[in-house]
Amino acid sequence: MRRPMVAGNWKMHGTRASVAALIKGLGKQALPGGVDVAVFPPGVYIDQAIKGLQDKKVAVGAQNCAVEQKQGALTGEVSPEQFADVGCKLVLVGHSERRQMGETNEMLNRKFAVAQAAGLVPVLCVGETLEQRQAGETLEVVGQQLGSIIEAFGVEVFAKAVIAYEPVWAIGTGLTATPQQAQDVHAAIRAQLAAKDPEVAKGVRLLYGGSVKAANAVELFGMPDIDGGLVGGASLDADEFGAICRAAGN
Ligand code: PGA
Repeated sequence: MRRPMVAGNWKMHGTRASVAALIKGLGKQALPGGVDVAVFPPGVYIDQAIKGLQDKKVAVGAQNCAVEQKQGALTGEVSPEQFADVGCKLVLVGHSERRQMGETNEMLNRKFAVAQAAGLVPVLCVGETLEQRQAGETLEVVGQQLGSIIEAFGVEVFAKAVIAYEPVWAIGTGLTATPQQAQDVHAAIRAQLAAKDPEVAKGVRLLYGGSVKAANAVELFGMPDIDGGLVGGASLDADEFGAICRAAGN
């Protein structure tokens, strides 16, 4: 059995005061023991989140990292070793909002590798745009994004990684993939991994992301290949996020 995971991506939201309020709200949530819960605050609030959430057993991750593992002369970047040093456990790799800014599969391969080398768990984000879905290219696009990592490093690296399928058209739009649409892509991702190594495929957590809310989480998480969610907007509301975490524990 795969242990479900719910991760909250706070994106570029928050102030010191609102982060404190969100942490306090999360502190009041009854989080299910059988679910891994993580949040990804903006970098400047990571330390605040780690300190505020340590009793809650909520892991904290970074939304992005440099292409270099260690510290060095790279103005404006933060290395995965530095994130690990302050207590981060995970890092998002290839969120569509960063792919749209020009991050290529090649850059993301490097980020994935240096993140793992630094001891962080990469959460590889994949997903198609609306145009690609309408053109019937969903599985091809997602297959290439995933295949890029598999070809570079082998499928075994997914024994210590998480994958998030996030259709770009469902992110922040209020449009959610139907449970069946999401399941179809998740099944294809697992099959692509299984073709190389069935054991790795069976163990890897596949999260769905794109307008996940408490109201749709139970149905989505009930699908056989959906092991939880990567939640954007709804993760900024502690009660809503808590309810999504509980939905994964059902
Ligand atoms: P959303 O974002 O839940 O606001 O759609 C999901 C994400 O981008 O990870």
